[in-house]
Amino acid sequence: MQTRVCCLCCLSSLLLCSSLHLRRLPLQQRDLLLSPPPRQRAEGEEGEVTWVLRSSQDPSTVMQTRVCSLCCVSSASSSQPAASCCMHSALGPPLAAQDPAGHQNSMLKGKRVIVTGASSGIGEQMAYHLAKMGSHILITARTEEKLKKVVAQCTHLGAASAHYIAGSMDNLTFAKQVVHKAENLFGGLDMLILNHIGHTYFGYFDGNVDHVRDLLKINFLSYATMTVAALPMLKISNGNIVVVSSVAGKIGLPLTVPYSTTKFALDGFFSSLRMEFIQQKTNVSITLCIISYIDTDSALKTVSGVIQQPAAPKEECALEIIKGGFLRKREVYYQYHATKIPLLLRDWAPEILQSLLLMNYNMDNFQRKEV
Ligand SMILES: *[C@@H]1O[C@H](CO)[C@@H](O)[C@H](O)[C@H]1NC(C)=O
Ligand SMILES: *[C@@H]1O[C@H](CO)[C@@H](O)[C@H](O)[C@H]1NC(C)=O
Repeated sequence: MQTRVCCLCCLSSLLLCSSLHLRRLPLQQRDLLLSPPPRQRAEGEEGEVTWVLRSSQDPSTVMQTRVCSLCCVSSASSSQPAASCCMHSALGPPLAAQDPAGHQNSMLKGKRVIVTGASSGIGEQMAYHLAKMGSHILITARTEEKLKKVVAQCTHLGAASAHYIAGSMDNLTFAKQVVHKAENLFGGLDMLILNHIGHTYFGYFDGNVDHVRDLLKINFLSYATMTVAALPMLKISNGNIVVVSSVAGKIGLPLTVPYSTTKFALDGFFSSLRMEFIQQKTNVSITLCIISYIDTDSALKTVSGVIQQPAAPKEECALEIIKGGFLRKREVYYQYHATKIPLLLRDWAPEILQSLLLMNYNMDNFQRKEV
């Protein structure tokens, strides 16, 4: 145990040094973001979208996170303060608020994008961001009524065009149909954002393996199916595949056995595929998004009271995902500290991570819930 704490201290200081070094380097990504001159907005025009330069990958933020991880590890005597340092570490105000000036983004202007699971939560917010950027959007989810409203809002926000197709992703024929609809509407595709999840439960594994199989179909097989269907178009456009996963897709968490299983499957499939794309010189990026606890209605309803960690804002989460996809990042970590620190600990000190994570659950408030 002592040895590992020591090891981790060493690792953290190493990372700290490297990030100090990083700090002096010009950020290529920063140049990328700044390259188009910001368009002047007419007065009274709808809320403008800004690329936030103090992104979660900003070296100074990364450094703060690493300092925190260092302090966290050095106090890791499995005590509550260590847990709260890790899980609640507040790195100042939300990242977006730190750069009010921001920079107008027109990167995704005119791009053709599919967003799944877009009737609510993070998917809905992604649709709105894309609309403000002037993209062509095709959204999908189960409920037609909700989709109609989101499409109307997207049109209002300035989408180049906005369309929907309603259906269930447990039907793989439907999954393919979504991609074909984009092909018919747009004549191609630039970005495929896979975000939907099926209904499951928040509670101890009940032994129902059939449910795991059904959920795999929705949360994983439909992702693979849509990827295969979209690949010819994405190869032409040098496009992006964006996969929304979760900390639960990197670290086994309690009360979400079927969900965790399906999210781990995504990592295996898409990380392998990404390597093959490099070998095959297929210029289609794959971005796996590791998302922490977000303030979507369904997440709040499900885990509030049980998970102690504060929920992160879905609007900012949605923007980080889109930005990560556009920048062709391998992985997006949002919120950075709530996802990256556990992942740093995962392979170095699994026992410490386990006790920190378990402390984050208040089982006195626990009730099994259908999601
Ligand atoms: C599956 O989706 C296809 C295409 O949307 C549809 O024609 C078919 O009826 C669906 N099957 C079921 C069982 O809902
Ligand atoms: C891959 O596509 C991106 C986006 O079009 C482009 O910027 C990049 O140069 C391409 N890379 C290669 C190796 O062709």
